[in-house]
Amino acid sequence: MLNIIKKNEQYVKFCAALDKCEHYQKFLVYKNKVLALGNDSLEKTIAIAVALCLVCAVLVSFGAVALKPLQAYNKNLDMKKNILEVAGLMKEDTDIDAAFGEQIEAKLVNLETGEYDDSVNADAYDQRKATKDPTQSVAIPKDKDIAHIRHKAKLAKVFLVKDGDKIKSIILPISGYGLWSTLYGFLSLDADGQTVQSINFYDQAETPGLGGEVVNPKWRALWKGKKVYAETDQPALDKGSIEEADIGEPALALIKGSVDTGKMGAQHQVDGLAGATLTSNGVTNLVRYWMGKEGFARYLGKVRVKRANS
Ligand SMILES: Cc1cc2nc3c(=O)[nH]c(=O)nc-3n(C[C@H](O)[C@H](O)[C@H](O)COP(=O)(O)O)c2cc1C
Repeated sequence: MLNIIKKNEQYVKFCAALDKCEHYQKFLVYKNKVLALGNDSLEKTIAIAVALCLVCAVLVSFGAVALKPLQAYNKNLDMKKNILEVAGLMKEDTDIDAAFGEQIEAKLVNLETGEYDDSVNADAYDQRKATKDPTQSVAIPKDKDIAHIRHKAKLAKVFLVKDGDKIKSIILPISGYGLWSTLYGFLSLDADGQTVQSINFYDQAETPGLGGEVVNPKWRALWKGKKVYAETDQPALDKGSIEEADIGEPALALIKGSVDTGKMGAQHQVDGLAGATLTSNGVTNLVRYWMGKEGFARYLGKVRVKRANS
């Protein structure tokens, strides 16, 4: 009640100040003059249009500012949903905030050393923002930039699904250029750091029905169980457009057509997207980049050693 009275007093003061304002008085005189003009007057048409634009601009600006926290919350919720989804923990009735809080742990990995870095708050860290900040990122040498992303953050944000002390899934952020856009997604691996659980892309602008099929659940299901690293040397594929992989190197690749499961190397191969070889090659390159020495290879190596010793 006291608040309302105070606000009312402020409003009365504001009106009194306006009444004394010379510019406001001029504006009132002009407003009355314009309103008195005929409806076919050019001056009245322009004045009304300008006033309407001003009112709309104020409303849009107010809306944008007022809705910003809600937008940020929804963006964050969507990211959590994507992570739960790639971890296989998302059902129709899942409470996203609760499930994420209970089952997922965010950690920052120093890509140079492959070690966790706990000096920065992982929950508040935004890897995409850090990639654009020269103090938090490094330029990728051209000959190593097979994902065509030019810069990478020094710290990568990974997500772990744990059962007590045991890791059940390692969810890694991946990104790289397709045909029209940079694709952003997650690759989920078993605790062995070798077997794929799932992949998803939450931000991409490839053509729907062609490269955009990267979001198709049927195609994404083909990734389950595939092996990331070569256990024997793997030859170049598709007339040399996909490079060979030596033992221990990332060998995952999207091939043209369907995978022949009887053939050597099938455990590393996924059907390419029909009519979208360029996006398919982009996905091969971005997965190989992030699973390679420039990406998470060092980190995953350490996860494997720790697992073997425990
Ligand atoms: C309008 C239009 C959109 C296309 N979008 C994609 C795309 O998103 N990803 C892609 O790889 N190819 C796309 N293509 C096709 C490529 O130009 C190219 O022909 C194709 O990648 C070759 O793949 P294929 O050898 O499997 O046919 C598009 C073509 C057109 C005309």
